[in-house]
Amino acid sequence: VSNRQIVIAQIPDGPIGVDHFVACDAVIPAPGPGEVLCRTILVSLDPVNRGLMRGGGDYRGGLGPGDVMAGFGIAEVIDAGDTGWVPGALVLAETGWQQYAAVPAGALSAVGPQRPLSHALSALGVSGMTAWFGLHEIGRPVAGETVVVSAAAGATGHVAGQLARLTGCRTVGIVGSPAKAEALRELGFDACVVRDEPRVLRARLREACPDGIDVYFDSVGGGVLDACLALMRRHGRVVCCGTLSAYDSEPPPGPRGVPGLVISKRLRLEGFVVLDHRDRWPAAQQQIADWVADGRLTVLEEIDDGLHAAPQAFVDVLAGANLGKRMVRVAPNP
Ligand SMILES: NC(=O)c1ccc[n+]([C@@H]2O[C@H](COP(=O)([O-])OP(=O)(O)OC[C@H]3O[C@@H](n4cnc5c(N)ncnc54)[C@H](OP(=O)(O)O)[C@@H]3O)[C@@H](O)[C@H]2O)c1
Repeated sequence: VSNRQIVIAQIPDGPIGVDHFVACDAVIPAPGPGEVLCRTILVSLDPVNRGLMRGGGDYRGGLGPGDVMAGFGIAEVIDAGDTGWVPGALVLAETGWQQYAAVPAGALSAVGPQRPLSHALSALGVSGMTAWFGLHEIGRPVAGETVVVSAAAGATGHVAGQLARLTGCRTVGIVGSPAKAEALRELGFDACVVRDEPRVLRARLREACPDGIDVYFDSVGGGVLDACLALMRRHGRVVCCGTLSAYDSEPPPGPRGVPGLVISKRLRLEGFVVLDHRDRWPAAQQQIADWVADGRLTVLEEIDDGLHAAPQAFVDVLAGANLGKRMVRVAPNP
């Protein structure tokens, strides 16, 4: 048995395509001291990992040709050595795009009891936690306020918007297509606008947010941030979550209004990294799981079948062709 991997063939010099990846067969790694051999079940497709293909950043080191593509996954422990993990345990791990990975035992965490298993990568995983801590810790909306969420039909955005609704806020999504807007209205978003260049987007948002914006959950930066800044209310909060407009293309010019509007409107723009809040994930996960169970929160997921599907699925996510959390099934659930 070999270890099928998807490795980086070349670093994109423009928008990413499937040709930037190649499938290879390697030997199944032997776990070293303190490592656990894991078999990948599902891998998450995270747009921020496109950034690793141009040298990384503060999150972690970059990736180059020949490296297995990075990805967070759900895996089954196969060989735990003397680490204390037990074979058969289901864990969250940086598996990368491969069937088997040897991972440091300390970097694993146990998958909770909630099912389906895939929720551990979506609403109960990094995406849902990003929505929760970005919204509640950084945005801190209160009932009656207006919350705008960008990339609102994505893994993080559709959860952030529903959490804002559950807080009693008017919730407006920014999305890439009318079909996505329709899907979000079915989830209870009060309004949705399709993204466009800043002037057009601003006009659409002004209509959707007649009282202005109290909290803007920004996963995009660039022109979308520009359009929202102009509509922020005094003492508004901008949750700096990500910069999707810059992952697969040249970073657009920064938004106008920084710092002018930030000063005159007394805004707070604050970034965060969800992993910093890890000790408080369990309580947030429990609340989200309860809302999913009683039907107040809907989880959107798309699961492509087979490791070979990962490059196209990743290209799709960066091009906006996903509704909710996109992931790839590498092996059936045990
Ligand atoms: N701070 C943290 O700790 C943390 C943790 C995890 C993720 N994040 C960030 O959260 C954001 C969302 O990530 P996700 O995993 O949930 O991905 P996602 O929203 O499921 O997928 C990406 C979405 O980005 C939108 N998009 C693509 N290109 C764009 C562009 N040029 N301008 C505007 N939108 C574009 C597309 O939606 P539309 O076409 O519908 O707009 C696409 O569906 C990312 O910025 C990510 O880096 C932050």
